[in-house]
Parts: sequence; C-alpha cells; structure tokens
Amino acid sequence: MLIGAEAASPRLRALVLGAAAGGGFPQWNCNCANCAAFRRGIAGFEARTQSSLAVSSDGVRWALLNASPDLGRQFLACRQIQPDDPVIVGLRHTPIASVLLTNGDIDHVAGLLTLREKQPFELFSTAGIAEVIGGNPIFQALDPKFVTRRTVTLDAPFELVDGVTARLFPVPGKVPLYLEGDVVDTDLEGEQTVGVELSGRHGARAYYIPGCARMTEALANRLRGADAVFFDGTLWQDDEMIRMGVGAKTGKRMGHMSMSGPDGSIAAFAGLDVARRIFVHINNTNPVLNDFSAERAEAEAAGWTIARDGMEVLL
Ligand code: MLT
Ligand code: MN
Ligand code: ZN
Repeated sequence: MLIGAEAASPRLRALVLGAAAGGGFPQWNCNCANCAAFRRGIAGFEARTQSSLAVSSDGVRWALLNASPDLGRQFLACRQIQPDDPVIVGLRHTPIASVLLTNGDIDHVAGLLTLREKQPFELFSTAGIAEVIGGNPIFQALDPKFVTRRTVTLDAPFELVDGVTARLFPVPGKVPLYLEGDVVDTDLEGEQTVGVELSGRHGARAYYIPGCARMTEALANRLRGADAVFFDGTLWQDDEMIRMGVGAKTGKRMGHMSMSGPDGSIAAFAGLDVARRIFVHINNTNPVLNDFSAERAEAEAAGWTIARDGMEVLL
C-alpha cells in the first residue's frame, strides 16, 4: 500500500514493517476480544507483527528503526528489504545499511539476533541504550568486525542512511521492562527512551516515536507542523488491559500514553498541524485494531491512520 505521491526523485520513504506493540497481533497466548476474533476469522482484523519502521531516501539503502523479534517474518513480507538480484549483487547482500534503536525493549532489540550473519551495518543508539545492549553478552553475536556500534548524542544530527538525516531526542519513558527495579520511574526523560526526527533531502520532516509516556510542551513544539508523525498507539484507554482482565498494568505504568481521553494522544495532537498522524506500536487489546469499531472510526475522524504492516508512506 502506498500513501502519498509517487516519488519522482529521492525523498523520504517510510515502510511500516511491524505495526503492533510487544507481543504482536494476535499475541501467542492471548484470547482477548481482538485476538480471539482474529482467530475465529471474523472480518475486520488483520495480523500485525511487532514494532519496526524502515526508512530510505532512494529505496535502495534502508535503515531499520528498531529490530523486531518478528524481523524474519518482516523480511519475508517486504520485498524492499530483501537481497537484490544475485546477478547484480552476488551471494551476500542486504538493503539494510543501518539499525537505530529507540529503547532497549525486547520488541525493539530482539531482532538484532536475526542480523548476526556477518553482514556489515551500522548500529546507532544513545549511550544509555548502547550500555543495555553492551551489557548483554548475547549481542556479542553481532560480530564487531561487521557491525559498527555508533553512539549518538541527543539532539545532534547524523546521517542514518544515504540521504536521511536523523536526530534523537528524549521522550518521557522508562527503562526496559527486564531492567525494572523495585521502584520504577515511568516519566524519565533521558537516553532510555528516545524519539527520532527524520529529514529527507527535499526538506520533508517526519518523526518516529513508538513509545511515549506523556506529551510535554517541548515535544509538542518539536512536532508542530511536521509532515508525518508515527506515534505510540499502544492503548486506547489507560486501564484497558485491566478492564479486559488480561493484565495488571496501566498504560502509564508501561510508559505509554493512551489514544483517547483528555491526556490522550488524539487530544494532544489536535492543534499541532501534523499532516500525517499514524499510530504504530498498537497493542493487541486496542479496539482500533477492529476495522469496524467505534474507536477506529473516532481515531480516523480525528485524522489518524492505524498503521498496517507493509504500509509505505512517501514524503
Ligand atoms: C512496551 O512497549 O511496553 C514493551 O515492549 C513491553 C515489553 O517489553 O514486553
Ligand atoms: Mn514495546
Ligand atoms: Zn490479545
């Protein structure tokens, strides 16, 4: 699916590899209303893999924004990130030039292990996230002779992939679930959870923010007037998982702001003049996953797109 004008010259291309949050949709062990409806074959539900976006300027070299545990399935599904013709590129090839991590959560880093077959690429993250990856010996599977780890300073622009400049900035969030201690600060603004600003050669400005605990004034000012924002669409309602009986945590406790309500993302974006507002990182309990739900209609009426796997946006 293509949204936007065909690119006559290189611009910014964003390909949703996985639109779901951690667990994916349907989630392997979940029988919530959405997951059960999908398995029963009820119309209006489409499977989605776990959270990742690919970006490119020329459609030849791509950067992965987060490496999903479902990366293998995403490679199968998306021609854009498969090796090119062997006659042209030889026996080993990938369009993936780099990977950027926005936090250390399992849904964003486990796919690094899918990239272990001695293929050169650059791995970008903040020092805080690099420490999490560096502290886990399983990631030594990424041979440093091939995978160059690059630490990025917050708010400093860098070339993410040919023709695409990125800039990382802090957004309210928390440390990864598996590093939570007894006391968890869910409103940390630092290097553990970041958003990404993406600029193309022709001035397009887009943002990727799959996790965000709260809209701050600084974040609102940053996003104002953007061409596109891919934003945290984890939950519709803060206590959704508790109401549905599938979990004990609120969205806030998980470091995610919800779509609805006065503190929700739909309200927060209302005055921001963002041309394309796209929800990603959608949890399997979220009623917007049902194409025919009132919540889906409400989000779309407010100008939002509910991302689907394979959706490509040209800016
Ligand atoms: C989240 O976004 O809250 C995390 O992906 C949770 C997890 O790691 O399962
Ligand atoms: Mn997640
Ligand atoms: Zn479910």
